[in-house]
Amino acid sequence: MDSINDINKEILKCNRCSLCNYKTNYVPGDGNINSKILFIGEAPGRDEDIQGKPFVGKAGKILTENINHILNIDRKDVYITNLIKCRPPNNRKPTDEEIKACSIWLEKQINILKPDIIITLGSYSTSWIFNYFNIKFNSIMKDRGKVYKINYWNKEIKIIPTLHPASTIYNKEWRAIFDKDFYLIKDLINKNNTGILRYI
Ligand code: URA
Repeated sequence: MDSINDINKEILKCNRCSLCNYKTNYVPGDGNINSKILFIGEAPGRDEDIQGKPFVGKAGKILTENINHILNIDRKDVYITNLIKCRPPNNRKPTDEEIKACSIWLEKQINILKPDIIITLGSYSTSWIFNYFNIKFNSIMKDRGKVYKINYWNKEIKIIPTLHPASTIYNKEWRAIFDKDFYLIKDLINKNNTGILRYI
């Protein structure tokens, strides 16, 4: 079976859609491959495109802050990826065709990482994950801040959708909602007192 590193190397050669022609760097994902916690964003922005790493710009600062200060976790101990691995030009939204072409990589990553907790950031990754696990998607505002439990890989996994951190930059109320959802994630992690890393 392929490892996450094998898949991420394959991503670096991907030309399944035209986004590869506009990007500076592919952004496959980053973090601890033995983590039980997976964060999924939408698509790389300008800073991510330059550095080849997810969530290293303004939105990443907010995400990292909450991982550090609410979850009390080091960002290096979770895995972070996106639905789309190349930056859409001018940060436009990914098209359905691009999502269809690119999401095979996320699907492979998920099935290797087999996380216990999946946190989706924003409507794009939430709607994709809900569709993948046969959960009805309404809207990010309706569906966020709840724990969706499903049986997969012979265990119970939990999906928690929340807002995209970028959406909270200029909206204090949304930042408060985002923070509230992180306290829910914290409770969930604390309930599972076996640690957040899987030692194989
Ligand atoms: N927004 C995302 O959805 N992903 C990133 O990696 C950065 C910003």
